Order: sequence, then C-alpha cells, then structure tokens
Amino acid sequence: MLSIIKSITLHGLEGFIVDVQVDVAGGIPCCDIVGLPDISIRESKERVRAAIKNSGYEFPSRRIVINLAPATIKKEGSAFDLPIAIAILMASGCINEFSHEKVVFLGELSLDGNINGIQGILPMCIEAKRLGIKKIVVPKDNVKEASVVSGIEVIPVNSLNQVVAYLNGQILIKNEQFNFENLYKCNYDGNLDFSEVKGQKNIKRAIEVAASGAHNCLLIGSPGSGKTMMARRIPTILPNLSFDESLEVTKIHSIAGNITSKNPFIVNRPFRYPHHTISKTSLVGGGKIPKPGEISLAHYGVLFLDELPEFDKSTIEVLRGPLEDGKITISRVNAVLTYPCKFMLVASMNPCPCGYYGSDKECNCSSQSIKKYIGKISGPLLDRIDIQVEVSSVKYENLNSKNEEESSAKIRKRVEETRKIQLDRYKEIGIFSNSELTPKLIEKYCKLDSKCKEILEKAFDKLGLSARAYGRILKVARTIADMEKSENIKATHLLEAIQYRSLDKKYSK
Ligand SMILES: Nc1ncnc2c1ncn2[C@@H]1O[C@H](COP(=O)(O)OP(=O)(O)OP(=O)(O)O)[C@@H](O)[C@H]1O
Ligand SMILES: [Mg+2]
Ligand SMILES: [Zn+2]
Repeated sequence: MLSIIKSITLHGLEGFIVDVQVDVAGGIPCCDIVGLPDISIRESKERVRAAIKNSGYEFPSRRIVINLAPATIKKEGSAFDLPIAIAILMASGCINEFSHEKVVFLGELSLDGNINGIQGILPMCIEAKRLGIKKIVVPKDNVKEASVVSGIEVIPVNSLNQVVAYLNGQILIKNEQFNFENLYKCNYDGNLDFSEVKGQKNIKRAIEVAASGAHNCLLIGSPGSGKTMMARRIPTILPNLSFDESLEVTKIHSIAGNITSKNPFIVNRPFRYPHHTISKTSLVGGGKIPKPGEISLAHYGVLFLDELPEFDKSTIEVLRGPLEDGKITISRVNAVLTYPCKFMLVASMNPCPCGYYGSDKECNCSSQSIKKYIGKISGPLLDRIDIQVEVSSVKYENLNSKNEEESSAKIRKRVEETRKIQLDRYKEIGIFSNSELTPKLIEKYCKLDSKCKEILEKAFDKLGLSARAYGRILKVARTIADMEKSENIKATHLLEAIQYRSLDKKYSK
C-alpha cells in the first residue's frame, strides 16, 4: 500500500516541499530510502524502526520503499524521521487516512519514540506558509520559534504516540499562538552601553560617523586601550532592527541552530566575534550539511575581526565578494545556495608586533618588523574599510571622572536621523548608505568646491595618500556633511574625513 506525507526542506533560506512516499508491499523484508537523501537521512530508517517498535506498533516485516520526491533536490538532516514514520504507520494501517495535502511534518525521532527539536524551524515555517501549507506539525522544543509565523496552524508534539493519537482524532492539540509583540519589547538587550566608555571623545565620534554612513572601520591601538570594549557596543548605536529585519536575522540563526525556546526571536543587531584561527568555511559558510558562516550570522549587525593581522590572509581574502555583494553563494554537489550577509565590518589591530608603537610606552620593534606586520593585512580588504582611527589609552582623569557619558540611545537617535537622509537621497537608486557609493555615484553626490579641492590636493601631497584613499575620504566626508544636515561637503567635513586615514598617514613615511 502506498501513502504520502508532506515535509519541507531548505536550500539556503528557500524552502521546498518534499513528498515522503512510502510503499509497503509483499516480498523479502527490507527497507530502502531513495530520492537523493544524504547519510543522515539514510540513518533515519534505523531510528524510525526503533521508534515505531518502542512506541508499541509493529514495524512491517515486508518490502518497504521510501521515496523522497522530487528526487532532484538534495535532502539533509534528521527532520524527515517523523514524516517517514507517519507514512509507514499510515501505509500499514495504524493511522486513519486524513487529508494530508496541506499539512507538513517535521521532527527527529529518538529510539524511544520521543520527538527531538530540529534546526531551521523558523525559515521552514515561513516557507511552508508561502507554499500554501495550512498546518505544520513540529517538535514541542521548537514551538516558540515556529509560532512566530502567523497564518499557519502550529501543532507541537513530543512523541510518536501523541502524533498518532492526534491524527486518529483521539486527542486534540492546541494551535500555539505566539505573542510576538511582548517578546519584541522585552527581549531588547540593554546590558551594553556606550555610556560605560569613559573619555575617548574622538574615537566615539569616529565610530558614530562609521555607524551613520554604514562605513566599515578599523581601530588601531595598544593593548588595553578599549578597542574591544568599544567595538562590542557598536550594535547598540545602529538603528533598531525592523520586524522584517529581525525575521531575516532569526531565520539565519535558526538554520545555524542558535535559537532557543527562551529566546525564539532575535531583536538585537548581531555582534559576531570570530577567533583569528577561524576556517574559511566557518567564516563564510558551507560544510557537509551547509550552515551559514559568521558573515551571515552577522547579517544586519557587526562582524568584529579582533587582531586583524593574526587572521590567515587567504581566509580574509574570501570576504571581498560578500562585502561587495551583501550575500554569499555556496556551490555544492547538486546545489547552489545563497545566504544574505550585509554586515558592518569592524576590525582592530595593534600598531606593531609589541603593541606600543606610537603610545606612551616604549616600542622596540624595528621599522622592518612593523612594515611586515602591517603588510599582513590584505590590501583589497583594507580597500573596503573607509574609516581607520588610532585609539590611545584612556587618560586616568577621564577614567576617574564622574562626568556622565552619552548613552547609546542618544547616539542611536542621531545615527537614525543621518541614515534617514541617505535613505531618502538614494531611494531611486537602490542603495541605503554613503558607504555603498560607487566611483560614478561619488562623482554625482560628493561634489567639492574649489577650496575643498585644494585641501584634498594638499593632503594627498603632504600625507602621501594612495589613490585608494580618495573615494573613501569623499564618502566619509559625505556622511559627516549629512550628520550636520549640510547639503554640500564643506572644508571642515573634508578635513575630518582625512583624519580617518590613520594607516595611510602613520605608515606612509
Ligand atoms: N575608555 C574606557 N572607559 C572605561 N573602561 C575602559 C576604557 N578603556 C579601557 N577600559 C577598560 O579596559 C579593559 C580593556 O579594554 P579592551 O579589552 O577593550 O582593550 P583592547 O584595546 O581590546 O586591548 P587588546 O589589544 O589587549 O585586545 C576594558 O574591559 C575596560 O574595563
Ligand atoms: Mg581586544
Ligand atoms: Zn612595537
């Protein structure tokens, strides 16, 4: 007898309905899974067999063929356990026929028949709804995450027996409703705040400029000068995530398995802080069962590369494309997937191998070793960092001062205003911020008067700036002008922007 149960699988963030077809027929007892399953799914039949037996049903000792259709789509993970078990039980007559067309089943079985949570529930629910599914049966562990999606009935289950009883009409299970509004409010992480950073007026200003124009930035400074402390607080001054942005961020983290029932919805901008030993795959995504990498987990937030020169050059090199495109495409056998990755890159480094070049403490590094140290950073990456600032240690009188420092909320309000100006200006051309201006657009939107042109020319001569600095300076000057709500770039804006080329200045001599 043939039975069909629906399930869903993801490629990147896109969902595909999978028909789990089970045929139980006479012949030598065996069980085969066909239809491009990966190893984890082939193991599924052992789990399903044990779960069915330990739930008190008979596993048919006949010839069982399980087909996952369409066969053209590669299927991964353990979420097909439940639909396979249900299809087998239906084919062997333990479950009454029901109208299965608009119902999707997801869940991993343990050997005793209990149902375990799986990864990627949120995007699966969103996609199921988009594909016209009305009801989704999910592991109880995942119910909070699943019920973020409205307009689809979410049925939480914790054992195979319970699902059978539900499908046979012996018990009712309530559709879980989720009060997202409350969560959205109470989940906001108020732990970190810029008011904790004493002094450092110039650096805070540079960081505000970066946040205002979505510019990538590099903090250069000696150990203990507060680079990490400030970087961590950058998400708190970026505009709040909108609901749609939150949803997109949560989807990615759901696939990565980072979502807990206590925290089913991400409302804070992500801050990702990968160690410098990170592999390429962990950074950009991929792997045998493909997972989003750090750059996608940082989507709409901050990717912080602490101690940039320590990173493997070839690892960092792979960031170039994603930084440009805001998405990453991962090619695999049978599939190509795309994950979004729009993030603000923040990097930090010491000024020299010992860390104290240019600070109050003595530096013993030779100029050659310093050159080599800086040379470790990939030029093309540096090309994509508009703002570079030197952080000196906070002065004792600042650290000890009772002066109230400005809160993140206050800074964020200004950042939001400046972002709005850019959104309005660029709404016709499909970019969001000054950092995205191409050379052609720079020509159009960053016009300089003759006085400014003169300043820039002098700066180039005097500081020996490279051609690559030119566009960066104009873009940053545009942001500073926007922060002052000035239509045109003025000399003061330009002069400040030139300040943010520390690396060019410091090491050009
Ligand atoms: N401006 C500041 N206001 C208050 N505390 C500060 C400030 N700067 C540094 N600190 C204190 O010093 C500690 C060290 O700072 P942090 O770890 O951010 O330095 P760092 O520049 O990242 O150093 P490293 O190069 O060693 O990583 C912070 O945790 C914080 O307690
Ligand atoms: Mg640090
Ligand atoms: Zn040194």
